Amino acid sequence: MQRPASLSNTAPRFGAAVRGSFALERDYTQLNHGSYGATPVAVLAAQRIWQDKLELEPSRFMRRDYKPAMRAAIAALAPRFKVDTDGLALVENATQAVNAVLRELDLPAGSGILITDQTYGAVKNAARHLSARNGWELNSVTLPFPVNSKEEILSAYKRALDPAPALVILDHITSPTALVLPLKEMAAAARDAGALVLVDGAHAPGMLDLDLSELPCDWYTGNLHKWMFTPKGCGVLWTAEARRKSTHPLAISHWYQEGYGEEFEYVGTRDASSQLCVPSALAFIDAFGIDAIRGYNKALVNGAADMLAARWETERGAGPELTGHMAMVRLPDGFGSTREDAEALRDRLIDEFRVQIPINPLTGTLWCRLSAQIYNELTDYERLAEAIEALAR
Ligand SMILES: Cc1ncc(COP(=O)(O)O)c(C=O)c1O
Repeated sequence: MQRPASLSNTAPRFGAAVRGSFALERDYTQLNHGSYGATPVAVLAAQRIWQDKLELEPSRFMRRDYKPAMRAAIAALAPRFKVDTDGLALVENATQAVNAVLRELDLPAGSGILITDQTYGAVKNAARHLSARNGWELNSVTLPFPVNSKEEILSAYKRALDPAPALVILDHITSPTALVLPLKEMAAAARDAGALVLVDGAHAPGMLDLDLSELPCDWYTGNLHKWMFTPKGCGVLWTAEARRKSTHPLAISHWYQEGYGEEFEYVGTRDASSQLCVPSALAFIDAFGIDAIRGYNKALVNGAADMLAARWETERGAGPELTGHMAMVRLPDGFGSTREDAEALRDRLIDEFRVQIPINPLTGTLWCRLSAQIYNELTDYERLAEAIEALAR
């Protein structure tokens, strides 16, 4: 018997059909999942339950329930990153993880620290601060943008490894340019040059299929509140075995020197409910299937970027090979070129058209950074196109 069309397998599963599963305001176009993520209503409900459990009997919760709940979160997470639980810690966010690693580095004055021109601003500042304090020499390599192939990135990066730095900070996915960097090859080249490798993978969990056991790095941090659907204030710091004893959380607390996992587990009294929600966020992902989510987001962002670049007769920042769930598209000329121009345009897009999207000044002009998450659909990007075209007129 033929199924009615409304029940057929071609019925939309994502896009507007799941927008109601998120706490997002209804009457605007959210094209900036990348900056802060968006939490499903079901996960927020689970968070409220953790908060209630804590407040009902705080001492009981902290003495008896806290530790097993944190461990359950890490145990649920570890197989998703193909590591065991020993080297995996939950942190508030990638910024704190990077600061924690840098603070403990015991490198002599004069040591080279290598970042890139696309290193996230907060991470750059942490590197600047600790370099100034410790007498390290901070250097930055310019990565190609727009870019056609990972070979272009690799050859620029390899040139910067001579003279060899003591530490490199590598993005997995760059923030201002939305590039999925060839991390494995870049990290391996840095290791071969003798450098320690700290990876800022803020955007990677949920977006990329991560196998941390395979990556040649010493530390890897990522946010779960961006693409893995936890509430804000949840990230991970994975540390290679050789570095675990000398890696500590930003706040040294009660379980100092009792082991890597223990130290990170308790960093003072706080609301850890966002971290305790990891199993709920994973359940949300599993309800759809991670491959279905990734497949939808990747196809959508590539389709949207192609559509906009063709409509505006401009270009993309990179092709699908270097694209995850975010993509850069150059705006038509006439909107200026400075950070102030970018912010002014961004304000007009949200105030006049209810379109939320980051605008970045690059290559002497302005670019927009598209994000695609399961609640988006192509009409969202068409709304952006119409808004830009109306403002250009
Ligand atoms: C590459 C990169 N690193 C670090 C961060 C910082 O994330 P958080 O503010 O959650 O620490 C971001 C946030 O957008 C990012 O894009």
